[in-house]
Formats: sequence, structure tokens, C-alpha cells
Amino acid sequence: MPTKPAPDRLYGRTKGKKLRPRQELLLATLLPRVAWPEVPFGGAVRETWLEIGFGGGEHAHALALANPDAGIIAAEVFENGICSLLSRLTAEELPPANLRLFTNDARPLLRGMVDGSLSRLFLMFPDPWPKARHAKRRFVHPEMLREAARVLRPGGEWRIASDDPTYQAWTDAVLAAQDDFIVERSLSRPAGWPPTRYEAKAILAGRQPVYWRLERLG
Ligand SMILES: C[S@@+](CC[C@H](N)C(=O)[O-])C[C@H]1O[C@@H](n2cnc3c(N)ncnc32)[C@H](O)[C@@H]1O
Repeated sequence: MPTKPAPDRLYGRTKGKKLRPRQELLLATLLPRVAWPEVPFGGAVRETWLEIGFGGGEHAHALALANPDAGIIAAEVFENGICSLLSRLTAEELPPANLRLFTNDARPLLRGMVDGSLSRLFLMFPDPWPKARHAKRRFVHPEMLREAARVLRPGGEWRIASDDPTYQAWTDAVLAAQDDFIVERSLSRPAGWPPTRYEAKAILAGRQPVYWRLERLG
């Protein structure tokens, strides 16, 4: 296992299909109204949650609607994904007061957070980087685990899911070597976890997701 993760460089795509005028408009007009950290949460939120790599945003949006007391920071770097979540938000009269979008690399964001300031962390189907020579790029990594343990409050929860066998074995190995979290592992999505688009595709393609629930020890 590599001792150091890769430096904070983005290896995946940040741009996909050329944006349509409506998507450009959402980025120019709606994003500045929900951008983290420029725009603080609208209402009184009792805790802060962070989703890393929200993809199309359905998971973060479902969390925000079901948990009005939680301030959710949803991080994603892929422009088309950011537009998908923005587009989802236009279905409502006002964007949710408890959902904010961070559109840069989530790793420096996490590192900049105050000790114990986060109650929940979500990493749903991270890019798997299955080749051994790319292992350093995986988000689940001993160094990121230490960082997550620092930022999560005692009793705080980290949810991870992956459908990639290499990433699953890797995650099991990284989790077996730490003592900051109690770990529950499941082959079916635990109750209360919203589904994600990537998960639906994986299941359709016959891949078996693994779900880990980590509880920060006090
Ligand atoms: C395989 S997709 C899964 C998306 C979504 N969570 C789902 O389950 O449908 C992984 C996502 O993580 C995003 N991502 C990768 N590295 C990131 C980083 N450092 N900060 C924020 N997002 C990142 C990618 O752009 C991509 O959209």
C-alpha cells in the first residue's frame, strides 16, 4: 500500500459534453446563489455534512430534503454533474437553504475543516482507479482516513460505497488497519441511504456494491 496519496491533482474529467446554453445560464446565475463557502447556509442548521463527488447530485439533494436541520456541502468537479444538480434545484421555488455546492477538489476542503466540525461524510462510488499504479489516487487511503477522523466529531458517520472489486478489497484492507472508526460492512444498501445514479448503473451491469458505515470513536 503506498504510504503517501497522490498530490491534490485532479486525474478524472472535469469537462464532458459541451454545455448547452441553459447549463451555461445555470452556472452563471444559480451557482453563485448556492456556492460554498461564498454563500452560508440559509437557515439554522445544527450540523454539517459533506458529500465528496456527488455525480448527478440526486443523493445530496435527497439528503437535503429529508434532513432540513443538516447543512449539506456537496462537492463535485465535473461540470456536467454540477449542472445536473443545479437543474434539479430549479424544480423548486427556492434552492434548499441547507444545500451548498463546492465545485473544486474536495480534498483541500476537507483538510481545511476544523477538528470535529463534521457530523457526516459521504463517499458514494468514488472513481475506482483499479490499476495498481494508480492506487495512490484512490480517495480511501490511510492519510485521508486520518484526515476524516480528525474532521468528524465523535459518533460522526462516514458512508462509503463501491462496486469495484479492486476498490472493495483495497477499502477492506485500509479499514482493517485503522482504529479510529467502528466499521459495518453490508452487501445491500442500508435503510435511509438514498440511491445514486452510478449505483443503479453498476447493479444493472451485474456488479455487486459494497456499503461501509464507519462510526467515529469518541
Ligand atoms: C464514479 S463517480 C460517482 C458519482 C456519484 N457519487 C454516484 O454515485 O452516482 C465519482 C465522482 O467523483 C468526482 N470526483 C473525483 N475526484 C473528486 C474530488 N477530488 N473532489 C470532488 N469530486 C471528485 C468525479 O468527478 C465523479 O463525478
